[in-house]
Amino acid sequence: APRILSGMQPTSDSLHLGNYLGALVNWVKLQDEFDAFYFVADLHALTVPTDPEVLRHRTRVTAAQFLAGGVDPERSAVFCQSHVSEHAELGWVMNCLTGDGEARRMTQFKDKVSKGGNASVGLLTYPMLMAADILMYDAAYVPVGEDQRQHLEITRDLAERFNTRFGEGLVVPDAYIVKGSAKIMDLQDPTAKMSKTGSSPKGLIDLMEDPARIAKNIRYAVTDTEAEVRYDVEHKPGVSNLLVIHSVLSGTSVEDLESSFAGRGYGDLKKEVADVVVGALMPFQARMRELLDDPAELDRILASGADRAQVVARATMQRVRERVGLLPAA
Ligand code: TYM
Repeated sequence: APRILSGMQPTSDSLHLGNYLGALVNWVKLQDEFDAFYFVADLHALTVPTDPEVLRHRTRVTAAQFLAGGVDPERSAVFCQSHVSEHAELGWVMNCLTGDGEARRMTQFKDKVSKGGNASVGLLTYPMLMAADILMYDAAYVPVGEDQRQHLEITRDLAERFNTRFGEGLVVPDAYIVKGSAKIMDLQDPTAKMSKTGSSPKGLIDLMEDPARIAKNIRYAVTDTEAEVRYDVEHKPGVSNLLVIHSVLSGTSVEDLESSFAGRGYGDLKKEVADVVVGALMPFQARMRELLDDPAELDRILASGADRAQVVARATMQRVRERVGLLPAA
């Protein structure tokens, strides 16, 4: 089967509904059809200062959330990026193929720098490590949210550049971005994406949040001054966001939801969305408790995922070393 790959950073104590609907739901679907590799991007998390104990905890939680969300470690390789040291090695090769100006033009880097503070060189070369993650596995598709589009573009550029310079050696991947759910919005500011760092606690739904808080956040979600439940991202971003959330979790199309809410108000919509979200997250949370109760089993899954990843990574690095002219070790 063709291969897919994706990763998430362990940068908070839980993933949020944007990570879940924008990425994880698709990871779970795609594992039926593809040879899937899913990893915790712990090396990427080092680009911002984090307490070591906290990072370890978040790395385990993130991996457990992949599984709680339905990733099946029997079919898909689930692993930690840092357990496959080839990622850093290929990242270096990618750094050497990237122009300094090209790296500085990446919007995520520019945003972080413009918000002040000391950006590390790691933050500058973040996209090159991400390109290495993807190209390592000859991934045909990379299921991600809309915010990763630019990173996928530079990955494609780097793969093509490598192939032009050294001869066909790397697969040029396509982003797999699902329209609608690829950008879940902040409940308090539906013109901004839901994000770990940018959203207020009321704007975000943490996957481990208690049901009463989830319902409350949805009840207070910002909508608009009309009364019609209609999908219209430009004029009704708040209502459209609620419709998307409902649609992905209930499996009902947005059009069917519009008809079922005809003549009904936003209160009804919010109540139903809250029920649907709570209904999906309660079993998720129960599985999380089981998984975190058995850290040895989780570590075993990560070790076996790393073994599978390692086999592919070793072969790719061997090919890359040979192509770029590094002398084989005796
Ligand atoms: P990260 O950890 O920020 O986000 C994980 C995934 O969640 C998606 N996402 C969203 N989708 C919809 N609506 C939102 N509001 C929302 N917020 C986040 C992201 O698009 C992503 O798919 N650079 C990556 C991690 C990474 C990676 C990779 C991904 C490292 N190497 C290789 C793919 C392939 C990141 O920071 O994602």
